[in-house]
Amino acid sequence: MTGQVHRRYGPSAQWLHINEAHITEEAVADLAGFKSNGVNFKLALWNPQPNGVRYLKALTFALGMQLSPANRERLQRTRNREVGDPYAVRCNGEPVCLDYLQAVHEVEFMAANLPLDGARIMEIGAGYGRTCHTLLSNHEVAGYTIVDLPNTLALSRRYLHTVLEPEQFAKIRFVGVDEVEEQVRGARFDLCLNIDSFAEMDPGTVGDYLALIDATCAHFYVNNPVGKYIDKTLDGHSQGAAVVELALNSGLLRDVIDIHDSEAVLQKVPAFVSAYRPGPRWQCVARERAVSWSYYWQALYRAGAVPR
Ligand SMILES: C[S@@+](CC[C@H](N)C(=O)[O-])C[C@H]1O[C@@H](n2cnc3c(N)ncnc32)[C@H](O)[C@@H]1O
Repeated sequence: MTGQVHRRYGPSAQWLHINEAHITEEAVADLAGFKSNGVNFKLALWNPQPNGVRYLKALTFALGMQLSPANRERLQRTRNREVGDPYAVRCNGEPVCLDYLQAVHEVEFMAANLPLDGARIMEIGAGYGRTCHTLLSNHEVAGYTIVDLPNTLALSRRYLHTVLEPEQFAKIRFVGVDEVEEQVRGARFDLCLNIDSFAEMDPGTVGDYLALIDATCAHFYVNNPVGKYIDKTLDGHSQGAAVVELALNSGLLRDVIDIHDSEAVLQKVPAFVSAYRPGPRWQCVARERAVSWSYYWQALYRAGAVPR
């Protein structure tokens, strides 16, 4: 109870407060900026600064409710996704987090373009292993090699050991970057994957990996940004100018674009497709915007015969 006297059609205590604090005479006197300041945050929009989790969940929910029946089944077959306590929502009874939502879209794209059952797969830069987890849960993969930096490799080993059945986990080989020449160079893979990782490596390192893929693989799936951004309104450059500088200087595609301008992003797609082609005998057989970030593209390349 507010102890307020009822006034016909009158404002609640909540709205008295909002009017006094936000929709003030001074605020109304000037329209400049009102849609992205405290005025509109009480009218039509949540303030994005303290509401990051709300927006993440809203995005996850919107995408989760659009999952096709096939992708929903891919998600359901990928057990133990709650390990690590992700930010998750429930869509028609199924817990959904953005990591695995993206993973099922990645697997959908790959499965549409090549047989995954029986495939020997190499993933470069697997993070904690969400894509490996999803692929092994949905396909009778013959073997899965993860190439990564030692610290991340320790995390993916531990995570995948926790979430996968022992016979699935036994198919994975973990290879540190210093062992690649020795352990991978002589092997053959049906598919190599790189997701959200080449764009963060030194250009020379990406070149090394593309040459390795050319020498050892029949297909290459890439899912990475088409360019860089510098818009401070997106993240407040919260990790500092030096970290921004590191990000701007890594990867092959370093042009700064407006990543939320669909045409600016589209213009960069030819350069993306060309940059990640492992060699002259490779052909891009499929390409499209990735889910869920506006400036990530995915492409699948197929190797032609080795030239004599
Ligand atoms: C942003 S994470 C993406 C992880 C994962 N692909 C995903 O999308 O969830 C980048 C990954 O690239 C790996 N990485 C960075 N530099 C690398 C290098 N030189 N060789 C192999 N992996 C590297 C990191 O350890 C990490 O696993």
